[in-house]
Amino acid sequence: MKDQFHRVHDYLRISLTDSCNFRCSYCMPEENISCMPQKHLMQVEEIESIAKTFVKLGVNKIRLTGGEPLVRKGADQIIKTLAQLPVELSLTTNGVYVDKFIDTFKQAGIRSLNVSIDSLQPSRFFQLTKRAVLDKVWNNILLLQKEGFHVKLNVVAMKGINEDEILDFIQLTQKHPLHVRFIEFMPFSGNKWEYQKVIKAQEMLQLVKDSYDFIKLRDEKHATAKKYKLYNAPGTFAFITTMSAPFCVDCNRMRITADGKMKNCLFGKEETDLLGALRKGEKLEHLIQNSLNRKHAFMGGQFNKELKNTQATTIENRSMVKIGG
Ligand code: 5AD
Ligand code: SF4
Repeated sequence: MKDQFHRVHDYLRISLTDSCNFRCSYCMPEENISCMPQKHLMQVEEIESIAKTFVKLGVNKIRLTGGEPLVRKGADQIIKTLAQLPVELSLTTNGVYVDKFIDTFKQAGIRSLNVSIDSLQPSRFFQLTKRAVLDKVWNNILLLQKEGFHVKLNVVAMKGINEDEILDFIQLTQKHPLHVRFIEFMPFSGNKWEYQKVIKAQEMLQLVKDSYDFIKLRDEKHATAKKYKLYNAPGTFAFITTMSAPFCVDCNRMRITADGKMKNCLFGKEETDLLGALRKGEKLEHLIQNSLNRKHAFMGGQFNKELKNTQATTIENRSMVKIGG
């Protein structure tokens, strides 16, 4: 499946729910915590049917997101159902319920998971998520590792919030085979994004350079993360440079929200109602291709190339919790 810029799209991110057991303000705006009514959500068979259509059109990789995907009723069954498809299946979670799903992950052939964790300090973790569960999350990270999963840690880097922990996260990679990924803070509806709050990958890298010797690793095709490794470390670290160096040129990603709307770009305002069409018995193939045909070259067509000049309030989009990342 190609768009008008000849970008091949083979990666689908499916959001299972817009609810979450955390309350991270960069993701879930205070005024926007009501979640979608159950009947608006894609049901298991609908998720299966939509996913199958995408697979037929060339998708070979599916990531489940949320809100928090593991709070979705029937998450277990959804994961096992999607595991039947010929795709690499993975998941992004906040880690709290991971211990209850280890067997499901194994049965589904999931090999790699992304766990979001923005602080290693209990009080700050609480400030950020409004939940005092750092221990639980950390133990689940160790459990995943012990059970043989490839574990990536997603850290949203924010100035004045957790920049003093960047080196602590890097140090983790010296002790554990964990793969830390720092994500530049991105603007979404209601999340009070400002240019001043972004810590650019270059700045983080400089910080690491001042303290450690490290090497650049080769990045995979379509990878959004630029990977590095400290000498002799079992883990790696990487930067997701969405803001300072967007990867739109090489984008292979499509998204489905929990209420079954296709988004051709994380930052796009356009949505295509696949669930509505499915419920009316319509075919989805042409809707999907039409959506791709309208995909903008760069950042949903809503961003200035100069990051400094980006005005978050003029961007029309959902909040992150309702997109799924
Ligand atoms: N900026 C950067 N990353 C974000 N995430 C959620 N909101 C933002 C934001 N505003 C991250 C989550 C999760 C991943 C899907 O995206 O922490 O790890
Ligand atoms: Fe939940 Fe993740 Fe959003 Fe935080 S970033 S509110 S953990 S979905």
